[in-house]
Amino acid sequence: MAQYSRPKGTQDILPEDQPYWEYLYAVVAEIARSYGFERIDVPIFEMTELFARGLGEATDAVEKEMYAFKDKGDRDIALRPEFTAGVIRAYIENGMQVYPKPVKLYSTGPAFRYEEPQAGRYRQFHQFNAEILGVQSPLADLEVMLLAWDIYDRLGFKGLAFQLNSTGCPECRPGYITALQDHYHAHIDEVCEDCQRRIVQNPLRVLDCKQQRCQPVIATAPKITAMLCEDCESHFRELRGYLDALGKPYTLNFRLVRGLDYYTKTVFEVWAEGIGAQAAVCGGGRYDGLAKLLGGPPTPAVGFAVGMERIVMVMKTQGVEIPKLPQPPVYLVHLGDVARTHAVRLLTDIREAGIGAQIAMSGSLRAQLRHAHRRGARVTLIVGEDELARGEVTLRDMESGEQVMVPADNVVAALAQQMSESSGAKTAAN
Ligand code: HAM
Repeated sequence: MAQYSRPKGTQDILPEDQPYWEYLYAVVAEIARSYGFERIDVPIFEMTELFARGLGEATDAVEKEMYAFKDKGDRDIALRPEFTAGVIRAYIENGMQVYPKPVKLYSTGPAFRYEEPQAGRYRQFHQFNAEILGVQSPLADLEVMLLAWDIYDRLGFKGLAFQLNSTGCPECRPGYITALQDHYHAHIDEVCEDCQRRIVQNPLRVLDCKQQRCQPVIATAPKITAMLCEDCESHFRELRGYLDALGKPYTLNFRLVRGLDYYTKTVFEVWAEGIGAQAAVCGGGRYDGLAKLLGGPPTPAVGFAVGMERIVMVMKTQGVEIPKLPQPPVYLVHLGDVARTHAVRLLTDIREAGIGAQIAMSGSLRAQLRHAHRRGARVTLIVGEDELARGEVTLRDMESGEQVMVPADNVVAALAQQMSESSGAKTAAN
């Protein structure tokens, strides 16, 4: 029994799972760069106030789920529950508003929310986050949605549902909220206790309620898309026009409201089947008011974040093929003290020549060879004392089992040749 266990809601990503993660990181970064996004890294912790202000005091992410604490200098610090607020802070603080527009940024890394853990929901999780800053055009909304689509296409995902809505802006949303509250007050006894509270404190979230008894009231609730102001209406129409012209399938979902307060106009999520209740593999939208709210210049912006753990779950449930991680091709085994010292010298020579290599660190010759095989070595060098006395070492091709003797002072050249032959043979076979 281990004396310590990992904190609730965290995960160890073991070596056998790393190929999924490395592949995923490579795919998202490659596609993002091909769209003209540049990487930005922001701190894992920020001043608590940044998130409280940016995401909204009444959101679950801030009110219930934030890892907030005082540091030793008595500062209020919080682990980031998401990237957007930190990216906007960095944009303002580093004067990035003078960069040519649009500014397209992506990040990957951990985020933290004190949620009740279940499949696909963790307290430490990872996001791929992308933002486009500085342009009002719906082309930016389209661009981030296309980026999400391309990531899922590249991974070969099936059965994804794109959910799209507009949540209006400070001009039209208050009118909608009043209409929604009027509707709920007329049916207040029919809805759950949470919604009786939400309709006052965080009204849009009533639309998100999963309780059976609330469904009829939601179904007859006024729809925001019918109450958008001209600006929000035309923005939404133009975006849908592009999506339709491209034949991209999406569902208009008037219940999609998102959990963070900064959204204006477009909001979207992508849902995946078969990964349990936590089906949103990404979520995002436009947030034109956030930069100003955080003390910066007014900056229209739109973005989204992908939950990496959920993507790995979909990769596994849908059997997505992933490339194996490369292993060092050379493995050195040795027998006896003199041979071991010689093998160590060879090891460093081989590595200096740019060839990946590792050396057996214990065990009989048989055990060392078995280990070489398990580690997926292409070539094993066997350094034995008798052979060494004759100035030779044995080079074994692990695939064919063929062995040749090579001069001990010519091992690197022999290996280089062997490598190019076997990679040539592989290319020819493909
Ligand atoms: P979000 O919807 O809160 O949006 O999170 C985005 C994605 O992160 C979710 O769809 C989900 O896949 C994943 N996620 C969230 N919480 C957890 C959790 N506890 N465990 C595992 N995965 C989780 C945002 O974070 C916004 N900042 C997105 C954005 C960027 N909007 C504009 N720009």
